[in-house]
Amino acid sequence: MKNLNIAVIGASGGLGSAFVRVLADEPSNVVYALSRSGQVKTASNIQAIRIDYAEESSIVDAVAQIPVRPSLDWVIVATGILHDENMMPEKALGNLSQESLAHNFLVNAIGPALVAKHFIPLLRRDRPAVFAAMSARVGSIGDNRLGGWYSYRASKAALNMLIKTASLEVSRRQKQTVVVGLHPGTVATALSEPFQARVPEGKLFSADYSAGRLTAVIERLRPEDSGKILAWDGSEIPW
Ligand SMILES: NC(=O)c1ccc[n+]([C@@H]2O[C@H](COP(=O)([O-])OP(=O)(O)OC[C@H]3O[C@@H](n4cnc5c(N)ncnc54)[C@H](OP(=O)(O)O)[C@@H]3O)[C@@H](O)[C@H]2O)c1
Repeated sequence: MKNLNIAVIGASGGLGSAFVRVLADEPSNVVYALSRSGQVKTASNIQAIRIDYAEESSIVDAVAQIPVRPSLDWVIVATGILHDENMMPEKALGNLSQESLAHNFLVNAIGPALVAKHFIPLLRRDRPAVFAAMSARVGSIGDNRLGGWYSYRASKAALNMLIKTASLEVSRRQKQTVVVGLHPGTVATALSEPFQARVPEGKLFSADYSAGRLTAVIERLRPEDSGKILAWDGSEIPW
């Protein structure tokens, strides 16, 4: 994992900041760290850039700050929302609201899709390249046995379809580019914080551990993996 140019979107988050740490630890890598504040911890091989899914123009502006193209080896989307001060995941249909459905879809599906639109053309074509977006096992329709969390599940299922569809298009013109969704496991970040008490012993990963395992998964990707949703241990998650 040397001499790579990598963009991490959501670099202020638990997992995103861990990806930046893990990837920039190799001094020959250059990491573009994109976040809403545009203020993440920098180093000589980390460049902070601002991005906000509320404005597509901010994604266009972010792309303009990446020099020499196509130049990126990996794009890692580590943004996402499950709860905030105005919403918690729904337990029942009666809890659904237009606002929380729309907000989950904006951050978990529409934002990553627009990042794919603007960033996939930046991926280099002369060697293997990867677009990887953080999905979640609960976005699997086939794996849904518990119910609940309507907006989050549905927005991640939509993200999975966007990933699969983009993988088919990209495979026609960027034959060495792999487009995947990744499930990081249950990770100790702000996103999982209200639910960590019910995680079984030993199943709550640190962000650095998860980012390290997912980096190993990304390194092993082959063109035939494009369109898949893969977990932190490399196993495939059903649609
Ligand atoms: N943690 C887990 O257990 C777990 C499990 C399965 C899947 N995942 C997925 O992994 C990904 C990363 O999650 P995390 O645990 O690292 O969460 P986190 O610590 O809460 O980080 C979320 C990130 O998303 C960014 N974000 C939120 N709204 C945004 C918007 N409108 N525009 C641009 N960026 C926005 C946040 O930026 P700000 O700092 O500016 O708010 C932050 O960088 C998510 O897709 C999540 O669904 C996490």
